[in-house]
Amino acid sequence: MSNIVVINSTGKIGSRVAAHLMAKGLPYRGVSRRTEIPFDWQDERTWPQALAGGKSAFISFVPDLAAPGALAVMQRFVAAARDGGLGKLVLLTGRGEIGAVAAENAVRESGLAWTIVRAAWFNQNFSEGHLLESVLEGHLYMPAGDRREPFVDAEDVAEVATAALLDDRHTGQIYDVTGPELLSFDEVAQRLAGATHRPLQYVPVTIEEFHAGLLQTLGQEWADLLRTIADETLDGRNSWVGDGVQRALGRAPRDFQSFLQQALGAGTWNVPAAAE
Ligand SMILES: NC(=O)c1ccc[n+]([C@@H]2O[C@H](COP(=O)([O-])OP(=O)(O)OC[C@H]3O[C@@H](n4cnc5c(N)ncnc54)[C@H](OP(=O)(O)O)[C@@H]3O)[C@@H](O)[C@H]2O)c1
Repeated sequence: MSNIVVINSTGKIGSRVAAHLMAKGLPYRGVSRRTEIPFDWQDERTWPQALAGGKSAFISFVPDLAAPGALAVMQRFVAAARDGGLGKLVLLTGRGEIGAVAAENAVRESGLAWTIVRAAWFNQNFSEGHLLESVLEGHLYMPAGDRREPFVDAEDVAEVATAALLDDRHTGQIYDVTGPELLSFDEVAQRLAGATHRPLQYVPVTIEEFHAGLLQTLGQEWADLLRTIADETLDGRNSWVGDGVQRALGRAPRDFQSFLQQALGAGTWNVPAAAE
């Protein structure tokens, strides 16, 4: 019986939560649009079957809780989880996002047991996420000035989420999960360049320039969403190190250097550098 449901089990965090459960020999049901039992955030008709028999769920909303309409979807999802007999929800959110706090409140007021895993920017954005292309291309255009972010390792986020699914002592906790150090995008670019032996330059841009660039490549919807996320997370409000990993797991978070070593070992950036 798979009574733990992992929503977005193909994502950066969900896939790691699933791997932790598998390593512990614990049955779980991982769902996304592509799984045998599908789950689509945009299609509520898929939710009851995906949640059937579940007792707890890891929830990762895509594309992001900052997206327009995300709160309404999350409110309907929470109701579906309650109707489906789930007892515990572990919600992944982004630090500083207004939409994330609203979604957290929907989960906290659900009447179910809950844990909030409130994460900083993932290190893996540079190796598996939307910034991989920038690393490979050689320019990191971000509207962050010299503000610093406590980038967190996806492995730590997933480990905290897994612990929350399995141990009731995490119930009712909000974990600010961050890495152990504040890094500017310039420092990140330098470290990535040093580790990968590829040229990589951080180019600070205004939020308007950032949005205009995204409009050309990703279109209106994604450009607007990424501007909102940047606006709400890179203005300095998140420039502090959280204690979520230490509190939840009793150990210090992984640092950026260990991420670099892990990703280098996996051959993540092993493609020819872009021509000058
Ligand atoms: N990136 C960060 O730095 C960061 C920081 C803090 C918090 N967060 C939060 O993390 C969450 C995203 O987690 P993640 O980065 O692990 O995810 P992710 O890697 O972006 O997830 C990608 C997966 O989402 C699935 N997917 C796409 N559309 C879907 C839909 N309509 N319904 C169901 N599944 C769908 C796709 O699988 P299928 O094709 O199989 O559906 C795809 O494999 C967001 O809520 C974000 O706010 C991110």
